[in-house]
Amino acid sequence: MTTPFNTPEDVERAVAAAHAVAPAFAGSPAHVRATALDLISRRIGERAEEFAQLINEESGKPLKWARLEVARAVSTFRWAAEEARRFSGELQRLDTDPAAEGRVALVRSTARGPVLGIAPFNFPLNLVAHKVAPAIAVGAPIILKPAPATPRTAFLLGEILAETDLPDGAWAVLHISNEDTARLVEDPRLPVVSFTGSGPVGWGIRDRVPRKHVTLELGGNAAVVVCPDWTDVDWAAQRIATFAMYQGGQSCISVQRVYVHSDRFDEVADAVVAQVRKLDPAEEVGPLINLAAAERVEQWVDEAVAAGATVLTGGTRDGASYAPTVLTNVPEDAKVNAEEVFGPVVVLSSVDSTDEAFDRVNASRYGLQAGVFTTDVRVAFRAAKHLAVGGVIVGDVPSYRADQMPYGGVKESGIGREGLRSAMDDLTEPRVLVLTGIEL
Ligand code: SIN
Repeated sequence: MTTPFNTPEDVERAVAAAHAVAPAFAGSPAHVRATALDLISRRIGERAEEFAQLINEESGKPLKWARLEVARAVSTFRWAAEEARRFSGELQRLDTDPAAEGRVALVRSTARGPVLGIAPFNFPLNLVAHKVAPAIAVGAPIILKPAPATPRTAFLLGEILAETDLPDGAWAVLHISNEDTARLVEDPRLPVVSFTGSGPVGWGIRDRVPRKHVTLELGGNAAVVVCPDWTDVDWAAQRIATFAMYQGGQSCISVQRVYVHSDRFDEVADAVVAQVRKLDPAEEVGPLINLAAAERVEQWVDEAVAAGATVLTGGTRDGASYAPTVLTNVPEDAKVNAEEVFGPVVVLSSVDSTDEAFDRVNASRYGLQAGVFTTDVRVAFRAAKHLAVGGVIVGDVPSYRADQMPYGGVKESGIGREGLRSAMDDLTEPRVLVLTGIEL
């Protein structure tokens, strides 16, 4: 089913309305924004199955993951409501030197202005929610541009947004062509661009509008380290298999690289392969977003095999579906290892020490999240210190994300952080009010 593009007139109306309402919306009472966010959260919950079926229909995401995504969106909006209620700023005492006795600063954050939010196809509801919810929470009008493949889920959310009492111009959903999006990126009435998607597009936006406030949530080739002290191999293998392959590996934090100490390598590799073979392709994996995506994954795996990689399981394509694939002996510079594969493919490598594993995790252009299977708290702290990523998950895979926690990457994985409170900080700028003659 194709959805017609919004017209240039729709686009102009939305941008003009966002620009016009921005000062009043930024100054609106917290209860207005929080009540709207609570209503959105509740209504998504009430229409959860409808959302899940639509996500499944539009993107091919298995229903199990679509339902989980909807539940997360309920929580994303609920968290935004809670954060909107407590977003108060801070009091900073200035009487720290004699000349400033009696002075105090009130530091509050105010919306930078209307936001252009550009969302990807892989979480058609919850990554849309991560654009819309924090913007409403801080009183920044949001123009949402969903992914070309998944506009209907965003329009369904639009139906719910229309049930709120938010003022005209506070939000719009625009399904537009790439050319119209490029024009919007450059529109001076939208001073903030929040983009989630591919690196080349994201960095291209940043280069085109260097004076705008641009946040980028880009890709990664997320890694797992299985340390020698980790004894529950079945748990690690089951988590690795599931989260390398979930929704066709189309998540920026799906497991792509696994480093295992050589003493345990064969045991872990056998267990991962066994767990991957147990996955139900229809219920856990699903197709890729289109045929071209599956053909690209096939080409990358074939290139790795030609360069010496061994296929432990998988390695075949059926239309837009690629079989869950486990590879080993993969050269470091093979695309399936060095680039973001965004498909159901995982690369297993043997290392001689945890330090070597950490070095190999860091030998990547990307740095979104990493998982470290260890029970040693000292190793956990070393991982947090040495791994160049936005988040380290101990005792689990890098694919773990709670929607309220800061989320984002270093290096080519992006700039800025999402997660409600972090995104609210990002969409606002501090304003300082200095008061004099105050007795503290
Ligand atoms: C992403 O693909 O970056 C989002 C992952 C998630 O929200 O679970």
